[in-house]
Amino acid sequence: MRTETTIQGLHAALSSIRANRKSIGFVPTMGNLHEGHLRLVQEAHQMCDVVVVSIFVNPTQFSAGEDFGRYPRTFEADSTLLVEGKCDILFAPSVEQMYGTQPQKTTVQVNSLADDLCGRSRPGHFTGVATVVTKLFNIVQPNVAVFGEKDYQQLAIIRHLANDLCFDIDVVGVPTVRSENGLALSSRNGYLSSDELALAPVIYATMQSLAKSIQGQAEAGRGIDFQGLMLTGKKDLERQRFVVDYVEIRNPDLAAATTASGTWVILIAARLGKTRLIDNLTVTLPDSDE
Ligand code: PAJ
Repeated sequence: MRTETTIQGLHAALSSIRANRKSIGFVPTMGNLHEGHLRLVQEAHQMCDVVVVSIFVNPTQFSAGEDFGRYPRTFEADSTLLVEGKCDILFAPSVEQMYGTQPQKTTVQVNSLADDLCGRSRPGHFTGVATVVTKLFNIVQPNVAVFGEKDYQQLAIIRHLANDLCFDIDVVGVPTVRSENGLALSSRNGYLSSDELALAPVIYATMQSLAKSIQGQAEAGRGIDFQGLMLTGKKDLERQRFVVDYVEIRNPDLAAATTASGTWVILIAARLGKTRLIDNLTVTLPDSDE
C-alpha cells in the first residue's frame, strides 16, 4: 500500500493508474477503522481495479462543543488494517493540505436535506460533509465512491451532490455492518462505558419492533399510524436511559412517510450519556403478488 499525505503526491500516484485506464474506487473515512469501513473497501475492490481510501478527520463537519478534539485517531492500526484489506493507496492529508492557510469562502450546501433529521441538532454538519466530500471527489476523481448505509442521510446527501454538481462518479451504498447483538459498528461506540455498550443494542431492537408493527398495520389494511409508531419508539428508548433526538419513519427518499410507498426507512438518533448514536433500518412489505 502506498501512503500519500499531499494532493500533489496523490495526483502523481494516480496519474499512471489513469494512463493505464484502470478504474479507481474511493472510500472516504475519518479513520479509527472497523469491519464496517473494511466492507466498503471490499466493495470498492469488487467494482474497481484500484482502491483509494482517505483518512481525514474533517474539522468543518464538527460543531463547536462536538468531539473533533477527542475523535479517535489510530493511524498505525488503520494502516495495518488497510494493508490487510488490500487498499492500494491511502490518502491521509493534513487539515492545511485540505483547507489551505486562508479562510475558505466556498462551501457546498445541499438544500433542505441538510437541515432535516441530524441536521436539526447538528447545524452546519452536512455542509461540512458535502464540502469535504466535494473536495475529495475533485482530488481523487474516482470512477466509483463507496459509502455506508449506516449514515443514511449522509448517503442521500452525497447522491444529490454528485448528481447536482455533475460528478461522473457512481455513488454506491453498502448495508450496515453490525455486531451479533445488532449494534451498528461505529467509531463512536468506543466512547461508551460497559453499561452503555450493553444498552446500545436496544436501538436495533426498537427498529425491529417498529418494523414489525409497520408490517402488521399494513397487512391489517387500515393504514399505518406513522406518528403513533414514532412516539412509541421514542418512549421505548426513553424508558431505557436514552435521550432521544429523533425516531422517524420516512419514505426511502427521506420525504414524509406515505402508506403508498411500500418501503420505509426507520431512522433513530439518540444519546447514551455523552455519546450520540445513529442507526436506520429499511422495511419493505413482502410483495402481495408473491
Ligand atoms: P466515517 O464515520 O469514518 O465513515 C466512513 C464511511 O464508513 C461512511 O460511508 C460510513 O457510512 C461508513 N460506515 C461507518 N460505519 C459503518 C457500518 N457499521 N457499516 C457500514 N458502513 C459504515 O462518514 C464519515 O466518516 C465522514 O462523514 C466522511 C464521509 C468521511 C466525510 O468526512
